[in-house]
Amino acid sequence: MTKIDILLGLQWGDEGKGKIVDALTPDYNAVARFQGGPNAGHTLEFNNQKYILHTIPSGIFHTDKLNIIGNGVVLDPSVFLEEVNTLRPVLPDIERNLVISSRAHLILPTHRLLDAAYEKVKGVMKIGSTLKGIGPAYTDKTARLGLRIGDILRDDFRDLYYSKKSDHFKILESLSFTIDEDFEQMETEWFDGIELLKRFRIENSEYLINGLSAKGSKILAEGAQGTMLDIDFGSYPFVTSSNTVSAGACSGMGIAPGLIGEVYGIFKAYCTRVGSGPFPTEQINTTGERLRMQGHEFGATTGRPRRCGWLDLPALKYSIMINGVTRLFMTKSDVMSGFETIRVCRKYRINGIETDQLPYDHSMEIEPVYTNYPGWSEDISKLKSYDELPENLKSYIGIIEKETGVPVAIVSVGPDRSETIYRD
Ligand code: GDP
Ligand code: IMO
Ligand code: MG
Repeated sequence: MTKIDILLGLQWGDEGKGKIVDALTPDYNAVARFQGGPNAGHTLEFNNQKYILHTIPSGIFHTDKLNIIGNGVVLDPSVFLEEVNTLRPVLPDIERNLVISSRAHLILPTHRLLDAAYEKVKGVMKIGSTLKGIGPAYTDKTARLGLRIGDILRDDFRDLYYSKKSDHFKILESLSFTIDEDFEQMETEWFDGIELLKRFRIENSEYLINGLSAKGSKILAEGAQGTMLDIDFGSYPFVTSSNTVSAGACSGMGIAPGLIGEVYGIFKAYCTRVGSGPFPTEQINTTGERLRMQGHEFGATTGRPRRCGWLDLPALKYSIMINGVTRLFMTKSDVMSGFETIRVCRKYRINGIETDQLPYDHSMEIEPVYTNYPGWSEDISKLKSYDELPENLKSYIGIIEKETGVPVAIVSVGPDRSETIYRD
């Protein structure tokens, strides 16, 4: 069996997973998503074009490679329809290299309404969800009430759908949630999406994936969100509803732990977070504003401004531990150009005591303990080799490697596929 590599986010999402998966795809035979849904926004840039993917794996532009939506994903047919329509001009035969797991769960139009209703109920404790229906869809999955992709092929699918819709309407009513008149339109688009889905290969993708591996094919598993948004290990309750960590790749694709090869952990040279929840190194000041502007830090799915701050080493080390990261990929190093001083949080101070462990209760008052390092001023976006990088950037990378014990194998210096420096 050929091992399956995983690429996943080590922070709060938006680390640049889409860009790097696309850049690495030529080395693989297939790319598979294993969790999350259209809350993800993975941006790819090449040939002066920019694409944002939500459900479809980021290997899709390499038309000779297979892309698989695994069983751990929740799929919204409406979003899928829009995504395929947007890609159709450049990928006219997208049905040929995209396979969808029959076990992946469906996001219903009412799941989106429930998401909005629950956020409203939470008030100031709201999660800042993307409102794509992720939480309610995974809730139904776990409650054994969900509908799956394979169900769309059943003769009684519409009846099943209307029965779920009626149950959801009762919950919405109990939450005093008013259903907009555009619901019918949402439902029509959703059923159009269902019809489109029927044109794709719907399979028990666990057999496909294990079969490919047995034949010697190389598969790259693409994570969504980030470790700090993991349902178990993130800053609960300000998290998403799936396991974003490497273990999620086993359950989200149907592969044994022993089949996992490399675990590529991707992180930004600084930190961002979109939505609510604790963010110890957040800079609500001109530094944060500067990172946001230089890094164009606005959500790929919702357009919301991302909160920005310095690199958080305790959080990074935690993520590396939970995922078993074998190689680090650092993105957005170019965004840090021009800062005279760069700060790194090496420890937290909680109740006057220094620690490098993340607390169970993320609402605790965490004071980051920073070390300052000299920055670099050069524009690095056109550089092609590691040796050419400014000395201070190389020292910054050296500190991260020393602290984490994991090599930084890729340094990304711009959003384009080509703006990627491979170290080995
Ligand atoms: P993902 O969700 O992890 O795929 O990341 P997003 O696509 O949501 O956000 C990353 C953003 O940074 C996108 O706009 C990318 O085009 C961009 N990006 C990725 N890598 C780099 C990089 O090295 N430098 C710069 N300047 N932008 C990058
Ligand atoms: P990618 O794959 C960044 C955040 C939301 C919210 C919380 C829960 O592009 O990195 P949800 O919609 O899951 O109910 O939202 O998680 N969130 C993301 N933040 N990148 C993402 O995905 C995210 N997906 C969800 O902002 O705080
Ligand atoms: Mg994103």
